[in-house]
Amino acid sequence: MDLENRLYFRQWLAGRDFARRDPIGGQMANYVYAVGDSVTKDVVLVDPCYAIDELLALTQKDGMNVRGALATHYHPDHVGGDMFGHSLQGVRELLTKCPCKVHVQRDEVPWVKHVTGCGDSDLATHSSGDIVLVGQIPITLIHTPGHTPGSQCFLVQNRLVAGDTLFLQGCGRTDFPGGDPRQLYLSLTQKLAHVPDDAVLYPGHAYDPRGQQALGITRRENAVFKPKSEAEWLAMFG
Ligand SMILES: [Fe+2]
Repeated sequence: MDLENRLYFRQWLAGRDFARRDPIGGQMANYVYAVGDSVTKDVVLVDPCYAIDELLALTQKDGMNVRGALATHYHPDHVGGDMFGHSLQGVRELLTKCPCKVHVQRDEVPWVKHVTGCGDSDLATHSSGDIVLVGQIPITLIHTPGHTPGSQCFLVQNRLVAGDTLFLQGCGRTDFPGGDPRQLYLSLTQKLAHVPDDAVLYPGHAYDPRGQQALGITRRENAVFKPKSEAEWLAMFG
């Protein structure tokens, strides 16, 4: 079977597909992704949060075995930790249930450790361009700073899992600790420039009723791609 047909890819929405009784999960509308190899049955979870047992049950129902977690960035609604006084489950709970590594971009490591309580031995530290192999399925990590210092996107075949770097409408905020509007501008216009228009954007939140959209359409329609210069972009989104 060729790799395209082997890809296992699921998009699960908090409050709908899991964590149905979690008011924060429903309100935040986070997506968790499962990316794996349907032949070897290996899978990684992108930004597992809110209800780890339910996410593991979803993978088990499909006969998949969780081999790791990919973290787009350190915010507690993606990796767990304390948010607005609420303790959210995340990668730390995942590690207690299935020993594996959390794949984190180098610049995000201190932030992820601080928010989740994970230690160095829990993390696999990456640079941009690194490839994580899940079974025989390669996932390319792209460092896209701006929303946070070590935000990263994941390219698997023609799918871009973008975390909070880019949504169908708008992009991630830059007013949280570590945010940098100029970096986000460069990430959107340069770091992601090589990802083709026919790739499909899978965002970190369901801020738009459509769960995904071709990147080319997003580049045409999303306001964050309208400014013609960095100065114009910063004036609108900085
Ligand atoms: Fe975020």
